[in-house]
Amino acid sequence: MIDFKKVSFTYPVGVTALRGIGFSIKSGERVGLIGQNGSGKTTLMKLCNGLLKPSKGRVLINGEDTVPQSIASLSSIVGYVFQNPDDQIFSSTIFDEVAFGPRNLGFKKKELKSSVKDSLEKVGLWKRRKSHPYDVGYNQRKLITIASILAMDTDAVILDEPTTGQDPVGKRVVTKIVKSLSEDKTFIVASHDIEFIAGTCDRVIVLDDGKLVLDDSTRRVFSKKSLLKKLGLSPPMITRVCQRVKGLKNDCLTVKEVVSGV
Ligand SMILES: Nc1ncnc2c1ncn2[C@@H]1O[C@H](COP(=O)(O)OP(=O)(O)O)[C@@H](O)[C@H]1O
Ligand SMILES: [Mg+2]
Repeated sequence: MIDFKKVSFTYPVGVTALRGIGFSIKSGERVGLIGQNGSGKTTLMKLCNGLLKPSKGRVLINGEDTVPQSIASLSSIVGYVFQNPDDQIFSSTIFDEVAFGPRNLGFKKKELKSSVKDSLEKVGLWKRRKSHPYDVGYNQRKLITIASILAMDTDAVILDEPTTGQDPVGKRVVTKIVKSLSEDKTFIVASHDIEFIAGTCDRVIVLDDGKLVLDDSTRRVFSKKSLLKKLGLSPPMITRVCQRVKGLKNDCLTVKEVVSGV
């Protein structure tokens, strides 16, 4: 459903953020995007819902080039949650913030309320629906922005650094939301939180200085210890432990599989 064909992107100030990127993501895939700061993760995600259009190459959503399409129509297919919630939030109540997207998509009154309620309940903020978004903390504002996208019921959900700044409870909420997304929804997440990626994604794309350097199953990507090290990245803790213990596989991803494999 999302195809990048030799995509490059240069910001108007002259910074080239992506160089010749190519991949294809099918409906229902769960893809993690990793790479150091400035490697191009956010830029790539913004190209997926038309907030940015490629300088070279083509981005296709459901087979259609994004160039002639409006952000509004692409956002109804691909929901993007900003890294910083304060770049996204503009309404004066939490309810209105979450209702904005579905209202624009033409949801009728009853359907609108139930989708907003459902989404706010998932992030534990339905009781705060009448509050101003700035009356709750930064972490909760991040959850509001996730709820806003869930409420639109888009085919693809893209989260930019969703666990950054979250406490363990917030992380659990985000993990649970991702795991409960319906199977046909495409999910893409950029994160430095390797454990989160390992727990929620089947496939990982690695960016380095605007180039795609690895695109493989989560298991295979995290087994490439020395390449990741060269890129300034590291596998999840449990994988690293296994890679150092003689006799254990170098691609374990969960404590459960290690314990059952011994
Ligand atoms: N609005 C912008 N204007 C100019 N350069 C930008 C802008 N946003 C990002 N960049 C640059 O593009 C490159 C990729 O950034 P970004 O996509 O934000 O990477 P990441 O999300 O992996 O940290 C970096 O060199 C960054 O400085
Ligand atoms: Mg970023």
